[in-house]
Amino acid sequence: MKIVAIVGSIREKSLNLQLAQHIQKRYAETFELEILSLRDLPMYNQDIELDAPQAVIDFKAKVNAADAVLWVTPEYNSTIPGVLGNAIDWMSRVDKVMHGKPSIMMGASMGAMGTVKAQMHLRDILFASGLNSPLLPMNEVYVGSAHEKFDSEGHLTDEATISFLDTVIVNFMQWMKQFK
Ligand code: FNR
Repeated sequence: MKIVAIVGSIREKSLNLQLAQHIQKRYAETFELEILSLRDLPMYNQDIELDAPQAVIDFKAKVNAADAVLWVTPEYNSTIPGVLGNAIDWMSRVDKVMHGKPSIMMGASMGAMGTVKAQMHLRDILFASGLNSPLLPMNEVYVGSAHEKFDSEGHLTDEATISFLDTVIVNFMQWMKQFK
């Protein structure tokens, strides 16, 4: 199974990127995870959506080819970061690469709430007609106080989080069977 991770932070030492990298390594035997960067995506502009820049074409092709999308996002100002919204705008138009594609989401923040509001909004967005992506139900992953859960080399060290993620991934794989 091929999954792409869309990480809502483009900073080098992003905790959300580190969370995606943890998933990539720990479940390498279960699925192949490619982490897509949003760094090179130009700003969405409806004037050019039918003749989109190559970076957009490549990004959408990778999403289109994947069996599922893993969203890993921080919370910015009580919602999703602009870079993520920008990627979603591209994905929601023309070939609508998210249509019917299953999603799983999680997020890490330094605050105690662990991206609850950002994920609430992202859930709503997945429901929009431009995306129409079924989301893994019930398994909500909020990694709060994230800066205390990764070591200086970016490894997730919090045993409770590691073990909880194991359960979520088992549930996710079970849920994915219906999309074969
Ligand atoms: C934040 N942060 C933040 N945290 C939170 O829990 N709720 C919020 O609304 C916000 N808002 C916010 C806005 C902006 C512009 C920044 C830069 C930060 C803190 C955020 O959780 C923290 O910086 C994370 O570490 C960002 O994720 P990455 O880059 O580490 O993946």
